[in-house]
Parts: sequence; C-alpha cells; structure tokens
Amino acid sequence: MKSDPRGPLPPYFNIDPDAALAALGAPTATDGFGQIARACTAGREDLASRGLEENGARQLRLFSTWEITRYLIPVAVGHFRRVLKQNPDLPQGRSETDGGAKWFTLDEVLRLRAHFGTEGSKAKEYLPYRPKGQSAKMVAVANFKGGVGKTSTAAHLAMSAALDGYKVLVIDLDSQGSMTSIFGGKVADEWQTVFPLLARHYARHQRVENQRRMDRGDAPQPLDDTLSEALEIRAQSLVQKTHWPNIDLIGAQLNLYWAEFQIPVWRMQGRGWKLWDALTDSLAEDGVLDAYDVVFIDTPPALGYLTINGLAAADILLVPLGASFLEFDSTGRFFDMLHSTFGSIEEAENMAARALGREGLAFQWDAVRAVVTRYDGSQQAELAALMQAYLGQTLSPHRQDFTALIGQAGEQVQGIYEADYRDFNRETYARGRETFDATYAAFKQLLIGSWRRDELGAQEAAE
Ligand SMILES: Nc1ncnc2c1ncn2[C@@H]1O[C@H](COP(=O)(O)OP(=O)(O)OP(=O)(O)O)[C@@H](O)[C@H]1O
Ligand SMILES: [Mg+2]
Repeated sequence: MKSDPRGPLPPYFNIDPDAALAALGAPTATDGFGQIARACTAGREDLASRGLEENGARQLRLFSTWEITRYLIPVAVGHFRRVLKQNPDLPQGRSETDGGAKWFTLDEVLRLRAHFGTEGSKAKEYLPYRPKGQSAKMVAVANFKGGVGKTSTAAHLAMSAALDGYKVLVIDLDSQGSMTSIFGGKVADEWQTVFPLLARHYARHQRVENQRRMDRGDAPQPLDDTLSEALEIRAQSLVQKTHWPNIDLIGAQLNLYWAEFQIPVWRMQGRGWKLWDALTDSLAEDGVLDAYDVVFIDTPPALGYLTINGLAAADILLVPLGASFLEFDSTGRFFDMLHSTFGSIEEAENMAARALGREGLAFQWDAVRAVVTRYDGSQQAELAALMQAYLGQTLSPHRQDFTALIGQAGEQVQGIYEADYRDFNRETYARGRETFDATYAAFKQLLIGSWRRDELGAQEAAE
C-alpha cells in the first residue's frame, strides 16, 4: 500500500461504531455525579495536603532587603541598614547564611514602614495616601465573560495594595471560591459567606413590613429559621484572617450559589426589598469598613444577584477583558446589560419615589474602567489600539501583559507577589512584576483621585 504523502488521516475519520460503543461504558445516572464528586474531593484533599504547611495553614514568604528597598519602602539600601542599626528595637531580619542577605516577614516590613512613616523624611511616600475621615473604597472586579482575569486581577491588586501599606478586605462573591483558596480561606458552608448578610437585610425588611401589616390589622408573615438565624449574624464574624497580615477575607464556597435562587424568592415575597443594597447596607451598618482602606470584591462570571450586590456596593468598577474580538464583543454586551439592569432598578424605584415626592435613586461610581489583561503585544497591538480608540478614557491606559509567572506557580504560591524571585530568571520576574505593578499603579491613581474628590467635597461642604 502506498502511504499518503499528506500523512495519516486526521483522527476523527474511520471511527468504528462497535469499538466506540465498547469504549463508552454504561450510561451515567444522577448517582454517577456523586461518585465523580467523591473522587474529585479525595484528589483535591490529597493535593491540598501536599501544598499546605504541616499545621494546615498557608504561610507567606519572607522579603529581602533588596526587595524591600526596591519595591516597598523607597529608601537607599545603605540608609535602610543604618536606620536598622541605630534602632535595635526594630526588626533586624534574618539571614540564611553568615553575612547573607537579610529577610523579613511582611509583618516586620509593615513595622519598618510605620517607623519610616513617622521618623523618616516627609518628602517621601512611606505611607500611602488615605485622607482622614473618608471611608474605605470598595472595588468590584466584574465581567460576565468567564476567564478574563477577574480573580487574578483582584488578587494581585489586593496583594499590591497590602504591600503598599493599605489594610485590605477581600470579599469573594463567586461560589467557585477561587479567591478564597488563593487566600487560604476555610468556608464550611454558606453561613460563612456573605449569604447571612443578605438574608439579614431581607429579614429586617420583612420585620418592618410585618409591623406595618400588624398596624393595618393584617397577619404578619412569620420569618423562617434561616431568616431568624441570619438576624443574629454580624459581618465581623464572617471575616477571616489570611496568611497576609493586612489582608482579611470574607470567603465563598459552592453553597453561596444558593443565594441566586433564594434572593428572587425573597424579592417576590417582599416587593419593596432593595436587594441591591443588601451588601452595602450590611457592611456599613456593622462598621466593618472602618477597619480597612480598600475592599476588593471578586464576582462570578455572571450578572446575577450577587454580582449586582457587589457592583452596587462598589465605588470603583474594573472590568477585565482580553484584547480579542470575542472578549471585546461580550464585554460590550456586559456594559449593555449593566445599563439595562441598573436602569430598570432606577426606573422602578423612581416611579415610587416620585409618587411619594422623594428624591430618586441614581447609582453612581467614582470610576469605571475596562482593563486589558493577558496582553500579548506581538499579536494584539492592533486590536488593543482599536479598543483604545473606541473606549477612550474608559479603557485603562495600562495593558496587563500575559506572563508565564501566573498559573505556573504551584498550589502553595499564588501569583507574582507570593513567588520568591530567586525561583525565576531575574528578567522574567522583573517583567512580570512590572506589568502587575503598573496595573496597580493605574488602579491606585483612580483610588487616590476618588478619595481626593471626596476630601475636597467634604472641605467645600464644611466651608
Ligand atoms: N496576566 C496574565 N498572564 C498570564 N495568565 C493569566 C494572566 N491573568 C490571568 N491569567 C490566567 O488566565 C486564567 C483566567 O484567569 P482568572 O481566573 O483570573 O479569570 P476569571 O475572570 O476570574 O475567571 P472566572 O470567570 O472563571 O472567575 C487563569 O488560568 C489565570 O492564571
Ligand atoms: Mg474568577
């Protein structure tokens, strides 16, 4: 037989039906999902036990003098060493070899930063800008398209803000729980997620409604167990510490998805319930935000009720997308959905508000920016330039490069800021870090600008 010069046929030709049947196996029933899930759980536990420390907790790496003076506290190395020598009470670091580089925990870096902030030159930015009397800024990272870099962007921003000296809270609204596992969160069920805060918000609404019903002589609608239990929960009890000394977490896990079914049921029962305000109001009421500078909210790839809550809570909205036709296209549709969703909430509310002679509802964000992620300049420059031309200021000027540093790191290390630079080629590390530092810088510009606007507004109001 003469062999075909084009090589063998592609693999989808000549599949034998009987062989295919033999390979197929028995049909899968509902129980089959249970078996698959149990196999995954066993494998996951195996992996997790390898990736974690003996005591089961994640540990953050140490930071070297080089890294601290290069990236975190802007002082010359010599000056840094002198200050440490003159102040034996300050953390002195530890070295792996005699006379080798000194390494510090992030906690120690924060103490050093505070020292430089109070004792050091006022001309230098040792402590990041945070106007007095202004509340924490909430940042939602959202796009209904999956896999565009929401979680990576949110996690890296949270870490860079923490390295920059801010106190950070991360809220995971995605029942996939990726953000939660990045920060080593432990979430047993929906009661350790934002779910009870949303339930409590509805329960309070129902209590007020019940009072009205009773005043009218109607029978109240009894609150079920879930709602009664939720009334006892405070946001503080949902916050967990992470292996980052200045990043806390409200985590998520699969059961949080239940909220997407429960919220519309509550909304049907309590037509006047402002479900979009549930997260904002609950966090504000409990005063959790007072303890933080910046709150990052990671959202699922959907415009469901959880995302709507996250978006309504946010001061700054970041929408990551790749510079590809498909992602540009669906991001356009995402903005369209935001327009109609928030527009219809406002319209419905304002009809009632107008009837009562009250001021209407108008959602407002300090800044909304699309952010190009996973950018490959050699392939995507044209598309990115086109996006820039059409989106103008809405597109953040910095494009976050695709970097091999992400996704390659093992279970233990999540992203660039947790990786030890000695594990990488210096140049690869520097380039990867540079692009995420620039992503942070572009974000910090929005953060500082919006705080400044509030600060000036408050000054004007006081005059
Ligand atoms: N700058 C980058 N360079 C290289 N890979 C990246 C970069 N940003 C994200 N990724 C990779 O892209 C994939 C998707 O990222 P990520 O999980 O952050 O997206 P997502 O929008 O949160 O996804 P989902 O919609 O499932 O929540 C991940 O494998 C991540 O490691
Ligand atoms: Mg995600």
